[in-house]
Amino acid sequence: MFEGEGLVGTKLSPVLKPEPGVISDFDMTLSRFGCNGRRCPTSHNILDNSRVISEDGKRKLQDLLHYYYPIEIDPNRTLEEKCPLMVEWWSRAHELLSQQKIQKGDIAQIVRESDVMLRDGFKELFDQLHKNNVPLFIFSAGVGDILEEIIRQANVFYSNVNVVSNYMDFDDNGILTHFKGPLIHTYNKNNSVLQGTKYFQQLSTRTSIILLGDSMGDLTMADGVPSVENILKIGFLNDKVEERREKYLDAYDIVLESDETLDVVNGILRYLLTET
Ligand code: C5P
Ligand code: MG
Repeated sequence: MFEGEGLVGTKLSPVLKPEPGVISDFDMTLSRFGCNGRRCPTSHNILDNSRVISEDGKRKLQDLLHYYYPIEIDPNRTLEEKCPLMVEWWSRAHELLSQQKIQKGDIAQIVRESDVMLRDGFKELFDQLHKNNVPLFIFSAGVGDILEEIIRQANVFYSNVNVVSNYMDFDDNGILTHFKGPLIHTYNKNNSVLQGTKYFQQLSTRTSIILLGDSMGDLTMADGVPSVENILKIGFLNDKVEERREKYLDAYDIVLESDETLDVVNGILRYLLTET
């Protein structure tokens, strides 16, 4: 938590001002979980449901989702139980997607034709962070190429935004052949998959981190940031709210239930960053 007067306020010397950084999950955290009673797609779902996937491929990807998603969010299973099953889900889905001859040049159109939505208030969030030179690290177990395209089309892919995610690899003809490693799934979002990225370098001077997530797996995203003194963990509890509330309240500092906006995050940032 942010504690003590020294971290916020206007009468402080610049030395005492916080050096915040934001680490955020993408799917169902920066993007919406639902709209008008309908589920919004994850970055994987955008591909799964797109016109470039065969009917047989779609059915198989749906089957995987229906089998593994309840396991992913099950509050009664341990991490040890879940981890190998998540590796299985991601590997099987990536294998299926890699058989579909997806073209790099089709990605922008696939995103445009999808039902994906960023949470209300996304523009204020990205604009505030950019204006104040606050690094925003998006750490996602989704598909990097897709989520980058989403924020590009929303005109908020600013220079302070960095993404660590699963990226696709294409052959010389621009056809998807496989996903590059290391594989990032819901429950290995920690420094084990961050070697060789700019993550720690970019966040190395940041003493206060705001962490945004929607899964219990997102809680480890700031592990290993060297100078961190305070982490404010904000969790979006989207699904199975009753069953999971207790665990979320234990693990996150702030829990937002069925909130499709970034208003709370923007309010906190406004308070931290605004000089009056
Ligand atoms: O960005 P984030 O880390 O939230 O992305 C992971 C999400 O993508 C998971 O919560 C999972 O439910 C979803 N997923 C999916 N299809 C897959 C694998 C993961 O929709 N094949
Ligand atoms: Mg998520």
